[in-house]
Amino acid sequence: MASAEKPNLGTLARADPGQRLAGRVAIVSGAASGIGAATVALFLREGAKVLATDIRAIDDDKLGAGSARAIALRHDVASEREWRNVLIRTTEEYERLDILVNCAGINVPGGGPPNNQDIENVTMDDYRAVQAVNVEGTLLGCKQAIPVMVETGGGAIVNISSIAGWVGVPGAVPYGASKAAVWQITKSVALHCARAGYNIRCNSVHPGGIHTPIFVPMTGGGDGDGPEAPHVPMRRYGEPDEVAAAILFLASDDSSYVTGASLPVDGGLAVT
Ligand SMILES: NC(=O)c1ccc[n+]([C@@H]2O[C@H](COP(=O)([O-])OP(=O)(O)OC[C@H]3O[C@@H](n4cnc5c(N)ncnc54)[C@H](O)[C@@H]3O)[C@@H](O)[C@H]2O)c1
Repeated sequence: MASAEKPNLGTLARADPGQRLAGRVAIVSGAASGIGAATVALFLREGAKVLATDIRAIDDDKLGAGSARAIALRHDVASEREWRNVLIRTTEEYERLDILVNCAGINVPGGGPPNNQDIENVTMDDYRAVQAVNVEGTLLGCKQAIPVMVETGGGAIVNISSIAGWVGVPGAVPYGASKAAVWQITKSVALHCARAGYNIRCNSVHPGGIHTPIFVPMTGGGDGDGPEAPHVPMRRYGEPDEVAAAILFLASDDSSYVTGASLPVDGGLAVT
């Protein structure tokens, strides 16, 4: 494995826009759609080499500009064996890993309105299925990536939690519980890595309502903007690019002294 040139995080010169991830190698899960796809596109524009993974096939054209620096992999994040294979492929191709974005996530398999999942109606099959992807997928990603990052000098992990892990969500108990766990795992990973002297930062992003397929069942199919989103202080839902920009901040050296932090990207919802 190549000995990596990692920044001295205390004396860092900030990279130019368009070069923030130059020379960095990133894994982004959940990359076939929504926030993951927007993150891959932004990382490529910022100079990264990207392993874009998803349980579904990823269209080459989704990888867009810079796709020569991207590899698309089929990958179920709930499988430890498949995580191992992704890390092996990463080191075979690029000899290092600098960034992991745990973005893959589900609400309830097959969708459906979240009010089917209140505490009186939730089924254990649905509950376990959501934890397997959102919680175990994130935990396994961190567990498998950390030794590789340690070997090549450090890195940054960004876990995608949710505002649903921040506030009570009576109609979506499995999803809310899973995203609270992702938040907690993030803080524990951050402390573990800092105390071990690993030069690995770990932070979480907490989107509010973002226009992606996972969000459609929660709005009944409408876009929910304007007067339909009165509970959002900014009176609109967000776009995947707006979340990708926050992920880039936490993945890049721009956040070199940030670890264990939780960043809402929610139009102000978390502070209502
Ligand atoms: N859109 C929102 O409003 C919103 C709000 C808060 C948090 N989030 C979180 O953001 C992340 C991205 O979601 P999105 O909004 O882009 O939704 P999305 O449905 O567009 O993308 C999720 C992706 O995860 C993939 N995936 C599902 N199960 C997987 C598995 N077992 N292994 C690998 N990949 C798997 C899907 O195929 C899909 O491509 C998720 O973790 C989601 O919970 C989304």
